[in-house]
Amino acid sequence: MPLAPVLSRYWDEPSSWALDAYLRHDGYQGLHKALSGTPDSVIDTIKDAGLRGRGGAGFPTGLKWSFIPQGDDKPHYLVVNADESEPGTCKDMPLMMATPHTLVEGVIIAAYAIRAAKAFIYVRGEVVPVLRRLQTAVAEAYAAGYLGRNILGTGFDLDLVVHAGAGAYICGEETALLDSLEGRRGQPRLRPPFPAVAGLYACPTVVNNVESIASVPAIIHNGPEWFRSMGTEKSPGFTLYSLSGHVTTPGQYEAPLGITLRELLEYAGGVRAGHTLKFWTPGGSSTPIFTDEHLDVALDYEGVGAAGSMLGTKALQIFDETTCVVRAVLRWTEFYAHESCGKCTPCREGTYWLVQILQRLESGSGTEADLTKLLDISDTILGKSFCALGDGATSPIMSSLKYFRDEYLAHFDQDGCPFDPHRSVLATGAYAS
Ligand SMILES: Cc1cc2nc3c(=O)[nH]c(=O)nc-3n(C[C@H](O)[C@H](O)[C@H](O)COP(=O)(O)O)c2cc1C
Ligand code: SF4
Repeated sequence: MPLAPVLSRYWDEPSSWALDAYLRHDGYQGLHKALSGTPDSVIDTIKDAGLRGRGGAGFPTGLKWSFIPQGDDKPHYLVVNADESEPGTCKDMPLMMATPHTLVEGVIIAAYAIRAAKAFIYVRGEVVPVLRRLQTAVAEAYAAGYLGRNILGTGFDLDLVVHAGAGAYICGEETALLDSLEGRRGQPRLRPPFPAVAGLYACPTVVNNVESIASVPAIIHNGPEWFRSMGTEKSPGFTLYSLSGHVTTPGQYEAPLGITLRELLEYAGGVRAGHTLKFWTPGGSSTPIFTDEHLDVALDYEGVGAAGSMLGTKALQIFDETTCVVRAVLRWTEFYAHESCGKCTPCREGTYWLVQILQRLESGSGTEADLTKLLDISDTILGKSFCALGDGATSPIMSSLKYFRDEYLAHFDQDGCPFDPHRSVLATGAYAS
């Protein structure tokens, strides 16, 4: 399957982030077209295209927009989720660095569709260069009349604020993000009410991922049939697959949905020289891992789901045979324990205990009963936590035990990690004087 660079097409051009570079490549043409129709016709186009949210869950974007009540006399808000903190996920930041105007144009079209006069881009706080680039792009858009009062003479007004978060994974969860944006501690809210009814400042709000919104201008400009000519019937279009880890050429590979890891690895030069694939994540660390058995799984929402995982953020982290799966899972679990917001007991307590047990197992002092305990605790978290962070924390554990139970056992059979190079050197006596 050929690659399909749309969002990433001009990333390598000099000053690709500047407004004049964007305008040379049909920039803001989608906006002109959108503003010449009604807001509802924009929603219909996105619905017809079948665009699904790229933030993890794959929810249909046009349908989400259509949930915003009309004629309710309340302000409506568009919030772009640019928190990008899921381990392995690294697509939104490069997109905002390379072509921030794609996102800005998408924001204006989406805000027009949902009849919002105020939009926010909530960016993970640590990425200062991305913040600066976005702020510059927003200033350019104001100066060119794409933002502010009476946009392009149509009477449509929109203000766009770039907001820096403080760097918490949980603030990527959309309701925690809204609390954070309102100035409170970022913790998930009880649903219902959903953000479409009572979101930011208790008003109707759409929260969408950066890549979802950045895909909108091209769809409006080229039409839904063009978008549907790529991908599959239920997962149409193109998307950014982020390859990282033990791969020869890591990076962003934009391709039609449904491509396989085997095909993507061909573009990326394969697993690093002299090594073989051991395990990988299809959509970040919150999605159950796959092995070399899954090289031909179609990387779309249905294909990955049928094979027992989730497409998530399409963050394909590649691990070769030198990686200890127990150690990788321990590191991920430490991340979840650290990022757990503490609001609900299963996740707050459970992730702490999962780390304790995994540390014991990784160091070789665990027992088989610990494996049962890992699954027990995971079962107490999965589906019983307040938000999906807890569910995600159980994915690496349950899936690694499914595929690599023997490797867990090897740790206590061999009194330590069989992959620890220091330990192997000691074992061979190379350090003996
Ligand atoms: C713990 C956690 C972290 C999340 N982080 C992000 C994130 O950084 N970016 C994002 O777009 N969605 C993130 N999500 C998903 C959002 O809650 C939400 O589903 C998404 O922004 C919706 O956008 P979409 O419909 O365009 O996919 C996260 C969810 C959870 C549970
Ligand atoms: S699952 Fe974890 S992150 Fe989500 S609300 Fe509960 S404690 Fe907070």
